[in-house]
Amino acid sequence: MREETEAFEPKADVAEVTKQDKTEERAAPGRKPKMLTRDVSVFYGEKQALKDVSIEIYDDLVTAFIGPSGCGKSTFLRCLNRMNDTIPSARVTGTIELDGEDVNASAMDVVQLRARVGMVFQKPNPFPKSIFENVAYGPRIHGLASGKPELEQIVEKSLKRAGLWEEVKDRLQESGTALSGGQQQRLCIARAIAVDPEVILMDEPCSALDPIATAKIEELIHELRGRYAIAIVTHNMQQAARVSQRTAFFHLGELVEYGKTSEIFTNPKRQRTTDYITGRYG
Ligand SMILES: Nc1ncnc2c1ncn2[C@@H]1O[C@H](COP(=O)(O)OP(=O)(O)O)[C@@H](O)[C@H]1O
Ligand SMILES: [Mg+2]
Repeated sequence: MREETEAFEPKADVAEVTKQDKTEERAAPGRKPKMLTRDVSVFYGEKQALKDVSIEIYDDLVTAFIGPSGCGKSTFLRCLNRMNDTIPSARVTGTIELDGEDVNASAMDVVQLRARVGMVFQKPNPFPKSIFENVAYGPRIHGLASGKPELEQIVEKSLKRAGLWEEVKDRLQESGTALSGGQQQRLCIARAIAVDPEVILMDEPCSALDPIATAKIEELIHELRGRYAIAIVTHNMQQAARVSQRTAFFHLGELVEYGKTSEIFTNPKRQRTTDYITGRYG
């Protein structure tokens, strides 16, 4: 049911959004989601931060999570690879599946899960180690390389995919923390890619970056889309419109509306979505 919507002026560029529709066609209806959640709630102690969130994330599509600060976007993203396990007061209920497997099952190896569902954070957080070691660390602990040549190949391939290779190939032994912010974030993406993930979660990956570095990350997201299922939290609606094909709008811990990005931005069904998209709050 469409709620009453007032004169509607989307903040995001409509041309951008409709361009996304073409890529959307690749996602045939009826295909299996890469990840699925049903009635996921999260509590921090007594306080409920997320209420009954049900959503699907698909291969080949970028799913954007938008909504005002504090509405539960990061909390939800962290459910997908059990990062909330690291917060003692957090309790997660509901069902979360990766390829039909329950991620919260006792048989699920959390280290393995976090390799399959990688994460890139708001503030670039390279290890205080060399550029090479930042990328080699994961493949080494997961035993993905049989020897040094193979490890070097993985590092090179990951840095290439992250669009960083040309800038760092002659300085792989320098510290990752010496890179610029945008380069550090691409290094973190290379680090996630290096363990051959299936899903990449990004929590406001550009919010600490300047516009040029941001544009590079957005371009990269486009290139990575065909290879991984990607979910990105962003408070920048233009960015959601540019990079995603699906958008989920969160408000006060609820998933208010979820659908094609083009529809969320041009023809939202709920008043709360309209209000947010038109900049009435948040
Ligand atoms: N570690 C935590 N402990 C207690 N409360 C938290 C914690 N992390 C987030 N919250 C609360 O959960 C709610 C959702 O937060 P968050 O998921 O960070 O929102 P968003 O990413 O949309 O800004 C907020 O009220 C926040 O204060
Ligand atoms: Mg957040």
